[in-house]
Amino acid sequence: MTICYSLADFQQALSLIPNNYKIGFVPTMGALHKGHISLVEKALTISDTVIVSIFVNPTQFNNPGDLAVYPRTVEEDCKKLREAGASLVFIPSVKDIYPGDDTRSISLGGLDLTGEGPRRPGHFKGVAQVVTLLFDIVKPTYALFGEKDFQQLSIIRFFTGELNYPIEIISCPTVRESDGLAMSSRNMLLNAKQREAAPHIYKTLKKAQEIASAQILPGSKEVITPVMLSRWVEEEINSHPLLKTEYAEVVNSLTLQLVQNWEDARDIQLCVAVNVDPVRLIDNIKLKQTL
Ligand code: PAJ
Repeated sequence: MTICYSLADFQQALSLIPNNYKIGFVPTMGALHKGHISLVEKALTISDTVIVSIFVNPTQFNNPGDLAVYPRTVEEDCKKLREAGASLVFIPSVKDIYPGDDTRSISLGGLDLTGEGPRRPGHFKGVAQVVTLLFDIVKPTYALFGEKDFQQLSIIRFFTGELNYPIEIISCPTVRESDGLAMSSRNMLLNAKQREAAPHIYKTLKKAQEIASAQILPGSKEVITPVMLSRWVEEEINSHPLLKTEYAEVVNSLTLQLVQNWEDARDIQLCVAVNVDPVRLIDNIKLKQTL
């Protein structure tokens, strides 16, 4: 496995890959866990060579405190990537990625109007900025992203198509701890009590999935609307003293617009963000899928 700490080194290593090779690309911000590694493993099954980038992208952090505490574990990351079978790791500097002002404006197709969008102003603009720049450098055949960041995946799919990148976006299921907590680099910032509380988030999402399929509120005969379910989820998560729901939204899985009725969309997703002070966790679950 080759590790490149500069753009020049990376371009040199890239030039050695045969032209007919299918390149699988996994962009990350490091602090790698089994969720990230599952993307590498999937990439290995569909490509001839797998490239992973580790870059804590400053432009997608709307909160400087969050950027400052973002875990950085490059050595362990490289060890995990070598064991997984990645061929090339790209660890650029901020100057490599942003040599000057980036004046491009990338359409997010309105997919940033719900969920993380309004709560983290500029976040998806920063994601689009870095992902397109990485795509331009790496020029992969496939790029793999996790469903854990459902809205990010939708937005990346959108601009990849809109900008005509000849790259196939591959989505990978959320990898969870045995107690259901979605794996996240931020989990390591939780203290013991918070870590104990955090699985309550996914437990609630699972219950919400059952409620949505029955469309009846538990313990009553009342038919539940998507808005009522959002409120139920919020209250259920907040019933744990260490958890505070920032939002619980029931959205059309394709447009990410809020749905008013279960019939309004073929596919429906429940997305949540929860503050476990000062850590912020996100998760999501499918509520309806029409094949
Ligand atoms: P990061 O949070 O490091 O995540 C890198 C990739 O791993 C993303 O596609 C994310 O969805 C996926 N991932 C994280 N946790 C996962 C889990 N538990 N199961 C499955 N996949 C998981 O997302 C980013 O970095 C950045 O925004 C990035 C796309 C690299 C742009 O800077």
